[in-house]
Amino acid sequence: MENNRENFGSKIGAILAAAGSAVGLGNVWRFPIETGQNGGAAFIIIYVICIVLLGLPIMMSEFLIGRYTHSNTAGAYRILSNGSPWKWVGRLGVFTGWFILCYYNVVGGWTLHYTYLSATNAFAGVPASEFGGMFTDFAGNPWIPTAWFVVFLGIVHFVITRGVQAGIEKFSKIMMPTLFIITIVLTVCSLCLPGASEGVEFLLKPDWGKVTSTTILQAMGQAFFSLSLGMGCLCTYASYFDKSTPLAKTAVNVSVIDTFIAIMAGFIIFPSVFNIGMNPNEVGAGASLTFISLPNVFQQAFGDGSVLSVVFSSMFYFLLFVAALTSAISLHEVATAYVTEEFHLERKKGACVITLSLLALGILCSLSFGPLKDITLQQLAAWLTFGKVDVTGVSAMNIFDMFDSFSGMVLLPLGGMFIAIFAGWVLDKQLYKDELSNSGEIKTPYFKLLIFSLRFIAPVAIGLVFLDQFGVFSFLK
Ligand code: PHE
Repeated sequence: MENNRENFGSKIGAILAAAGSAVGLGNVWRFPIETGQNGGAAFIIIYVICIVLLGLPIMMSEFLIGRYTHSNTAGAYRILSNGSPWKWVGRLGVFTGWFILCYYNVVGGWTLHYTYLSATNAFAGVPASEFGGMFTDFAGNPWIPTAWFVVFLGIVHFVITRGVQAGIEKFSKIMMPTLFIITIVLTVCSLCLPGASEGVEFLLKPDWGKVTSTTILQAMGQAFFSLSLGMGCLCTYASYFDKSTPLAKTAVNVSVIDTFIAIMAGFIIFPSVFNIGMNPNEVGAGASLTFISLPNVFQQAFGDGSVLSVVFSSMFYFLLFVAALTSAISLHEVATAYVTEEFHLERKKGACVITLSLLALGILCSLSFGPLKDITLQQLAAWLTFGKVDVTGVSAMNIFDMFDSFSGMVLLPLGGMFIAIFAGWVLDKQLYKDELSNSGEIKTPYFKLLIFSLRFIAPVAIGLVFLDQFGVFSFLK
């Protein structure tokens, strides 16, 4: 299928853009901690198996669906579903991307603020116990995080409005090598710290005793989130691939880059943690690791208030900012391509509609640590049931956490499962083979295994992750 849409101008541009989507906050604030807690290299090995058996088949399918239809995600599934309800998988993907972005941009704003704090040496002399308060004061402030969020969203909007080649591709070609260089410099610095080898050992020594069924489910969930699977991102980017782009090779490249950066993030974090004699199990995960433990760890490891700690910590938060930014751009593009093509809007107008909606919901997420902190799921449940039902069992998560949990626990796994089933059972096998082999030019000896995984392994595995999220297995135990 052909139409006159813009394409990426080069294969390397296509790889870097897709890798930009994959490399995000998940690589830095989730992967290293999960590795540390789940048996080091044992977890890495399981993770890589998940990537090969689950991640690659789904990524190839998303690439194929996008490139074959040359359409936004909703359009792509509509074209391929021949009027059947499978068209809803595409729409679900668009919704998921937009939904994730509502809170992802807020964290993007935090990374900017922490880059600024690091560069201005604001962490100098702050006692270890104060970093928690520093972060909650910042996140709870009604203005500052919201202002940074608006700046972050503004940058995303700017890149998107410039288009596929002059915006996304050009930007990825600058930002991804930058991210790569910063990662290497930070890794080398961290590995030079006294005691670094303990950190390396912690991360790399396989401890199979720590591996349980939960470990495997965690590795699957992480592989999925980290590769940006389960929604419309890679499908949308692939709709800008030209016909000669090798799909399998591109998928392998993206997965290798993503995994490499994730492992390097571990080498940046753990040597410093061990250097200051901190217990790696106490550093937390996610936001608390990134904005509470690490500023303290870096100050102490590289000298409180020293030039080295200013440089190291500024570079670290800038790295996080770039990683979040390129992922946010890919998420924005899913929604922009959708409204532009399905509602026949000009690209600039389409991008504005999406940005304005993200602005409104992002502000709610941003304020949910401060002025809106009392609007919780429990409170909403009470309002919706007019106070007639006992809601004490309902979680008291705030608006931000509602967006985060619903997308991570429900939307992404559901989307991934439907994509695998669609690609394995519904999509024409001959079409699949033709596309994957670029009409017979590339050999595809793995084709049978690929289809087997899409039909059986992936749907079952993702289904298990999905159930595990809701504690079904621990409940059974
Ligand atoms: N892969 C990104 C990360 O690791 C997150 C993401 C998920 C981006 C889904 C786009 C789509 O943080």
